[in-house]
Amino acid sequence: MRTIDQIEPFRVMQLLERAKELEAQGRKIIHMEIGEPDFHTPESVRNAAKKLLDNDQFYTPSTGAPELQQALAAWYEQEYHVQIAPERILITPGTSGAFNMLYAVLIDAGESVLLPDPGYPCQRNFIRLAGGQPLNIPVGPDSRYHLDGALIDKHWQPHTRAAVVINPGNPTGTVLQRQSISELAKACRAHNGYLISDEIYHGLTYDTSAPCALEVDDHAIVINGFSKRWAMTGWRIGWAIVPEKLIEPCRRVMQNIFIAAPTLSQYAAIEALKATDAVEMMRSAYDERRQYLLRELPKLGFDIVVEPQGAFYIYANVSKLTEDSKSFCWRLLEQAGVAITPGEDFGVYQSNTHLRFSYATHLDDIREGIARIAAFLNK
Ligand SMILES: Cc1ncc(COP(=O)(O)O)c(C=O)c1O
Repeated sequence: MRTIDQIEPFRVMQLLERAKELEAQGRKIIHMEIGEPDFHTPESVRNAAKKLLDNDQFYTPSTGAPELQQALAAWYEQEYHVQIAPERILITPGTSGAFNMLYAVLIDAGESVLLPDPGYPCQRNFIRLAGGQPLNIPVGPDSRYHLDGALIDKHWQPHTRAAVVINPGNPTGTVLQRQSISELAKACRAHNGYLISDEIYHGLTYDTSAPCALEVDDHAIVINGFSKRWAMTGWRIGWAIVPEKLIEPCRRVMQNIFIAAPTLSQYAAIEALKATDAVEMMRSAYDERRQYLLRELPKLGFDIVVEPQGAFYIYANVSKLTEDSKSFCWRLLEQAGVAITPGEDFGVYQSNTHLRFSYATHLDDIREGIARIAAFLNK
């Protein structure tokens, strides 16, 4: 099969398009499908960008503006107490850019990467685009919906190059602690591969915090970005922290595939690292919504098996309500005007009996969404 024929659509976009059509017809739709913050980008970042517009916007070095690399290195020291040489921090167009770059470096035709199923859907396609093979490993409540050392040992193939952890998880919001990450890192090392830790939801954690994989293993590859924690999805800025020996091949790929991340966004992003009050305001609002949904959803028959302590998602088992979460979501959208994401977006394992609520939506809308779902279920 040709590579492009293996690339699946980002299905939630189809649901979103239908929701937009219904809105165009005058209906109010409650959006609990999309993983995009509903907050403004911190004001200090927007103000910095306005001032920066007076400057020329030429390319930065391919691996990023040195000022942002240094600011991030200082931030890692402060946030996680890890020391990272700034040149190991590669600035990319979004976290998505970091993954595309990384897989171009790590994977040759026919090589594979272990992924959790359920997991972030684009991952599989990033790997396929690099000519690789995603190995989707079913994960459930036992391992908090993450890979663990035993799963890595069981599924690692001779041509496997890496395993991915998304911590906090998407779609599950579950958080792994040091011990589990250390186990993952050890298992990957034992197979001469890499642990890739997607930390894009770091900072959005509730009653806990998520450790950076570099706290436990300097050989891990960390991927992160400004989209979620700092409400900066459209600024397209992310980064990868790679071991020293990968810097040079990464640089070559970056020079070729995107030359450099957007200059304006890179310099404005330096301000984001100081915007701790704005981040805390968003985090506590998300937490209030999370707590509301954790109380209300089980009353309606949505089972939440492992409490989500991060990101802005709740992954629920709907087997009490349906055996077909896809048609459930579509009916809910058409009849009740509430958009949520069916499990099939995140993989195949038990996807028919699961779905994901996003609470990156105002609490008033979430309340209305819950009332509409309750009315829908009583029909
Ligand atoms: C787990 C995960 N990784 C990466 C991304 C990509 O983010 P971006 O390219 O905006 O940095 C997303 C976006 O939803 C995500 O959920």
